[in-house]
Amino acid sequence: CGIVGYVGGQSALDVVLAGLKRLEYRGYDSAGVAVLADGGLAAAKKAGKLANLEKELADRPLPSGGTGIGHTRWATHGGPTDANAHPHLDNAGRVSVVHNGIIENFAALRAELAERGHDLASETDTEVVAHLLAEQFSSCGDLAEAMRQVCRRLEGAFTLVAVHADAPDVVVGARRNSPLVVGVGEDEAFLASDVAAFIAHTREAIELGQDQVVEARRDGVVVTDFDGAPAEVRPYHVDWDASAAEKGGYDYFMLKEIAEQPKAVADTLLGRIDLAGNLCLDEVRIPASVLREVSKVVIVACGTAYHAGMIAKYAIEHWTRIPCETELASEFRYRDPILDQRTLVIAISQSGETMDTLMALRHAREQGAKVLAICNTNGSTIPRESDAVLYTHAGPEVAVASTKAFLTQLVACYLVALYLGQVRGTKWGDEILSVIRELSEIATQVDQVLETMEPVRELARTLADKNTVLFLGRHVGYPVALEGALKLKELAYMHAEGFAAGELKHGPIALIEQDVPVVVVVPSPRGRSVLHDKIVSNIQEIRARGARTIVIAERGDEAVGPYADHLIEIPATPTLLQPLVATVPLQVFACELATARGNEVDQPRNLAKSVTVE
Ligand code: G6P
Repeated sequence: CGIVGYVGGQSALDVVLAGLKRLEYRGYDSAGVAVLADGGLAAAKKAGKLANLEKELADRPLPSGGTGIGHTRWATHGGPTDANAHPHLDNAGRVSVVHNGIIENFAALRAELAERGHDLASETDTEVVAHLLAEQFSSCGDLAEAMRQVCRRLEGAFTLVAVHADAPDVVVGARRNSPLVVGVGEDEAFLASDVAAFIAHTREAIELGQDQVVEARRDGVVVTDFDGAPAEVRPYHVDWDASAAEKGGYDYFMLKEIAEQPKAVADTLLGRIDLAGNLCLDEVRIPASVLREVSKVVIVACGTAYHAGMIAKYAIEHWTRIPCETELASEFRYRDPILDQRTLVIAISQSGETMDTLMALRHAREQGAKVLAICNTNGSTIPRESDAVLYTHAGPEVAVASTKAFLTQLVACYLVALYLGQVRGTKWGDEILSVIRELSEIATQVDQVLETMEPVRELARTLADKNTVLFLGRHVGYPVALEGALKLKELAYMHAEGFAAGELKHGPIALIEQDVPVVVVVPSPRGRSVLHDKIVSNIQEIRARGARTIVIAERGDEAVGPYADHLIEIPATPTLLQPLVATVPLQVFACELATARGNEVDQPRNLAKSVTVE
C-alpha cells in the first residue's frame, strides 16, 4: 500500500492526492484521503483506482485545510470495497488513520474494543487502530504519545499515519517493518511510503528506523522510539528529481523504463570497474577476509528479482567456484535451511521492502550468515538490515512489471561474482578479462536491441488472440525464459510458461500443438557451442509438432534461421551476459501484447509493485 501525510501551508488535499498518484504503483484496489479543516475532519474513500476517488471529490469536494493523510491500497484483510478503503475513523469521526501492513493480533484487539462499546464498521485490522488511538488521545491529549501507546500493543507489520481533529497542526506516523520516510520542506513536512510522493516539494528526507514514531509539524519533526526515547535521525538528500518519476512523453512508465535501460545499466557500472579491469566495490563493507572464507552463497529474492538471482548462480559458480543456490525468499526460511558464518546470503530486491525477502534475510542473519543486499531504493529496509549493500542505479521504477531494475540487478550480480573472484584470487583467465571488457560495452548493446524492436511489436500484435505462449531456454537462457513468461502473465494475463529446453521432452512437449507460439532463447554459437547445438535440436523438435517458433538468437547465427518462423536478432555477447540483451525483446513483447489486449500496462490487475506483507 502507499501512504502519504502532509502538514504545511499548501492545500493538504492537493499535496496528498498528487503524492498518492506517485504511489499508486504500490496498490490500486482503493484509495482515500482525510483532511483537517474548520475544527473537524473530512474524509472520502472509494474502491478502485485513484481516478474513482478523484471523481468522487469532484462531485463532493472536501473543505480545504493544511493537514491531511491519504492511502492507496493493496487489499489484505477485507475485500477492495468502499468501506474497507482507508482512511479509517473512530466512532466520533475525530481521528483518522491509514495503514500499510498486517496487524496480527487485530481480532483480540477488536473483541476488546467491542466489549468497551466501540462500534467497528469495516472488516479491516486498521480500524482497530483508529479506535485505540481515539481512546489513548482522550486520556493523554498528545497524538504522538497516543500513537506510541497503541504501537506497543500491536503485533505484526505496520506503517501507520494518523491525524486528529483536536491536534490540527500535527501528523503522526509509526513504523515497524513496512516503509515510511519523512520529507522535510520549508515550513512543511511530509510522511510517505516512498520519497516519490513528496519529491516535487523537497529532496531532503529522513529515514525512519524500525519501531519509531514521528511527530511532524510545519516547523520540524520529532522522532522517538515506541517508549518515547528520542531516536537518532538519519537525514539524506534524494539524488533524483521529480522528472525521474514522470512519464516524460511516453504513454506508460513501462515504455519509459524499458527505454531507460542502457542508462540504468551504465549508471550501475559507473565507477565500479577501473581501467585495468579491477572491480572497485568498496561499498561492499564485508571484509575481504570474511569473503575469502565464504563456503556457500545463497541468493534469496522474489518475482523478477528471483530470476536475476537464478542467472547470478551460473555466473557465481562459473567464475568463483563457490557453490551457490538461489531460492524463492518465501520458501527459504520455512524449510530450515543450512546456514552458518561462512554462508554469504545475497538478498535481491528492487524496492528493498518486499516482506518475504526481508524475513529471509532476517532468518539468515539470525543463523550467523552475512547478508549482502542488492537494492535499488536508498535507505529502504532490506539494505538497512543487511551487512552490506550494493545499490543498483536504475532510478525510480514505477511500472509494476520490473524491467530496468532487472537489468541492473543482473549487472550488480555480475559485479558481485567478479568481485568475489577478485578477492579470493580466482585465476583471472582470458574469459573473465573479456567478460569485464564486454560488460563495459553492454549498455551500447542494450541500446542496439531497443532500436530494432519494431518487428517484435508487430509480431506481438498478431498474437493478441492467442491463449498460450511458451518460452524455452538453456543455461542462463532458462531464467530468461521464465522472466519472459512472467512478464506475459503479469501484463497480458495470458497463460505463459517458461521451461528449460532440455526438460521439454520430459513432459511439457505435450503442450505443443498446431500454431502454439514458442519463444526460444538461443545461446551464442560461439563459446559453449554445445548448448547452442542442443537448443537448435529442441527448436526442430517443437517445430515438427506444429509450434510457431519465435527465435531470439545472436546476429549472424545461421544455424537457427531455417527453423525460425520469426527471428529476433540480438548482439553477440559472452554467454553469461546474454540475459542483458535477450530479456529486452521479451519485455517489449509483453508490453505490446498487453496493450493490444487492452490491458493496463503500468498497473496490471491484482498486483502491486512492492509487496510488504508475507
Ligand atoms: C512484486 C512485483 C514484482 C517484483 C517482486 C519483487 O511481486 O510485482 O514485479 O519482482 O515484487 O520485488 P522487489 O522489490 O523485492 O524486487
